[in-house]
Amino acid sequence: MYDLIMPRNIFSGENSIQSLKEVIIKEKIFRVLILTDSGIASTDLPDLVLENIPPDTDSVVMSNIVPEPSYEQVQKIIDDCRAYNPDFIIALGGGSVIDTAKLASLLIRSPLKVKNLLSDPLLLSKSIKMLAIPTTAGTGAEATPNAIVAVPEERMKVGIVNRTMIPDYVILDPVVLSNIPKSVAAATGIDALCHAIECFTGNKANRFSDFFALESLSLILNNIEKCLNDHTDIVAREKMLLASFYAGVAITSSGTTAVHALSYPLGGRYHIAHGISNAILLVPVMKFNEDAIRDRLAIVYDKCIFGGLSAPEEKSQAVIARLEEITDNAGIPKNLEDFGVVKDDIDDLVDSAMKVTRLLSNNAKPVGPADAVSIYSEIL
Ligand SMILES: NC(=O)c1ccc[n+]([C@@H]2O[C@H](COP(=O)([O-])OP(=O)(O)OC[C@H]3O[C@@H](n4cnc5c(N)ncnc54)[C@H](O)[C@@H]3O)[C@@H](O)[C@H]2O)c1
Ligand SMILES: [Zn+2]
Repeated sequence: MYDLIMPRNIFSGENSIQSLKEVIIKEKIFRVLILTDSGIASTDLPDLVLENIPPDTDSVVMSNIVPEPSYEQVQKIIDDCRAYNPDFIIALGGGSVIDTAKLASLLIRSPLKVKNLLSDPLLLSKSIKMLAIPTTAGTGAEATPNAIVAVPEERMKVGIVNRTMIPDYVILDPVVLSNIPKSVAAATGIDALCHAIECFTGNKANRFSDFFALESLSLILNNIEKCLNDHTDIVAREKMLLASFYAGVAITSSGTTAVHALSYPLGGRYHIAHGISNAILLVPVMKFNEDAIRDRLAIVYDKCIFGGLSAPEEKSQAVIARLEEITDNAGIPKNLEDFGVVKDDIDDLVDSAMKVTRLLSNNAKPVGPADAVSIYSEIL
């Protein structure tokens, strides 16, 4: 048995942000809360959104969401927004903003707190409709029912999963990626790549997730460098936005695996950006998994790389080599040294990673503590 869920209303393509106007009119909205962060607030993107809100609809921009927020930081945003009493929420940002907006859509009208959802994510349902405009390509958070928050006391990141948090509307407009810094585009693009390849090689992979994961892989493997190296290439940006959305859809049906499981403690303890820690782990984890996922990587080779190799082992090695080439070209650090991680930290990291059983159980090859020690040691 397998299933798939995704947002019901998706607009895509250059200038698709203009469809915002018709959504607001159709939904008969009075007060729109626009959530974003300070990095995006310093660009012209909030104005682009405001231009597409009908003049008789009230709106407020709240731009103090922090990257990779803790559950307490999300709670503060929700508390600050409550008095405005919005009847629609727009998330303009990357995964950090979209996840905050998802939690706000559940909690603004409720006395419950984010902390309550950490222990029981199904305590309540969404009460305010939400539209996501991803500005990174990306986490695919616009497609998923997950919101990821840091839990400082556990030095971990935790995913809150509630199906009603799937955004009601999504706008995938490549124009919003025009001025994204290359380092952010690189880390987030590789995060999407991780989602797609983990979903395709995970134990929960199925026909629904394969369809989206393979299409995502094809788009990323053939466009990521174009997108990173030429910021006028709007077609490549449109393809990367689609790819990250597709990978997010694949997550809802399959799921991520050991790359993300080993990455969570790095985000929780050292505040390494989600895309960066995944990018550092991607190749070592795929090499560790290789014998268990060889046939799956051979399919990726056939459908996305189209080379002349015929042996499955050669094909799977070629896919891993392509992943390595992408992380090299993107300028991603190769190890954790720069982030202050030292050898003595490994045991704690392994203890935390072993608790991410939801993702580890999806990894095609069992990952025990000794395996995790060896993967972390490789990237020190
Ligand atoms: N909900 C999910 O399904 C899901 C999946 C993966 C990751 N996540 C979470 O998403 C978060 C990471 O999100 P992210 O990687 O998209 O980064 P982000 O939202 O944290 O943004 C990173 C930085 O990039 C800047 N930025 C973003 N878009 C920009 C643009 N177009 N132009 C200029 N600057 C821009 C932001 O201001 C910010 O400083 C993490 O908390 C991660 O755990 C969620
Ligand atoms: Zn991710």
